[in-house]
Amino acid sequence: DAVERGEYRHYMQKEIHEQPRAVNDTLEARIGPHGVLPNIFGVGGDELLAKARGIHIIACGTSYHAGLVARYWIEEYARLPVSVEVASEYRYRDTVVPDGTLFVAISQSGETADTLAAMREARRRGYLATLAICNVPESSVVREADLKLMTRAGPEIGVASTKAFTTQLAALALLCLRLAEQRGLERDRYADLCAQLAHLPRAIEEALKLEPQIAELAALFVPLEHALFLGRGAQYPVALEGSLKLKEISYIHAEAYPAGELKHGPLALVDEAMPVVAVAPNGPLLDKLKSNLQEVRARGGRLIVFADESAPMDTGNATGTTLRIESGGTFIAPAVFTVPLQLLAYHVAVLRGTDVDQPRNLAKSVTVE
Ligand code: G6P
Repeated sequence: DAVERGEYRHYMQKEIHEQPRAVNDTLEARIGPHGVLPNIFGVGGDELLAKARGIHIIACGTSYHAGLVARYWIEEYARLPVSVEVASEYRYRDTVVPDGTLFVAISQSGETADTLAAMREARRRGYLATLAICNVPESSVVREADLKLMTRAGPEIGVASTKAFTTQLAALALLCLRLAEQRGLERDRYADLCAQLAHLPRAIEEALKLEPQIAELAALFVPLEHALFLGRGAQYPVALEGSLKLKEISYIHAEAYPAGELKHGPLALVDEAMPVVAVAPNGPLLDKLKSNLQEVRARGGRLIVFADESAPMDTGNATGTTLRIESGGTFIAPAVFTVPLQLLAYHVAVLRGTDVDQPRNLAKSVTVE
């Protein structure tokens, strides 16, 4: 055990630090200087993807959050309608499946009971094809899917998923790029997105360097019982994932909201005992987020903002901390900004003395309903 963990105190910390390697492996021999390579989804995969007129993504837990990020990506760059649903709801719902819809199951283990049952149900519902994005090649989900793209995270031991998530994002980014290219995304834009994706392992490596600062910040959360995470656009699922990590391993009640919803409820909870963690997007939504954050500040809430290096954010206010991250571009930013939130949850849990790798009541793979 100690040998496998090496220099790290927990598997989770080790797995967080393995992300540059894991993402690199997931992209390896799948993206080249001219873009995504042919047929990385299996024989005949590109022809099937070219026929897709819409996508339904199904998953659970952290994998579901990866699907939510993919929705923002695929709709923006490939202009295909995407819906994302948790498997346990999907399987019992009488879904409408428009002609030419591709079914995508995302699962680290490939054995989650609800995800597997949803995929079996999908076979009866008449999809164009099923695609599995999965970390375990011999798993049931992979065996039963028509197309597959393996994440190459390697075995993940920590119950709270980390490297599986960022490698799922890398795989979904490849899917998005293939679909976008087929649907005529301008060459320059396509080339820029490919370059961003190729840079992702390095960008994650840079984000990991924030660990000492984040470990310091973690002390603030130790005596608290609640935290609120905010994001906008593709950073909203990142906020969801950050809040899930915190609740899973530190047992602090955490919720995530799209920042624009703050005024429709959660603002009532904000006070000095409710820290607000915000993942700042770049681009047109940044100003909107800033005005959301102003509302938090006005109510005495303590703000922790993760912002892009180039984003104009005020720093040094009395009740907040801003940490700067080099996002490497809007496309890959969700994957990069996930890393500091993983580190935050990890260090809070360590300080609270919980069983980080084996949180109470949770299982790595839920193979029963
Ligand atoms: C469990 C794990 C989570 C995981 C979820 C889905 O809840 O604790 O970390 O995200 O199952 O698992 P899957 O293997 O299908 O991605």
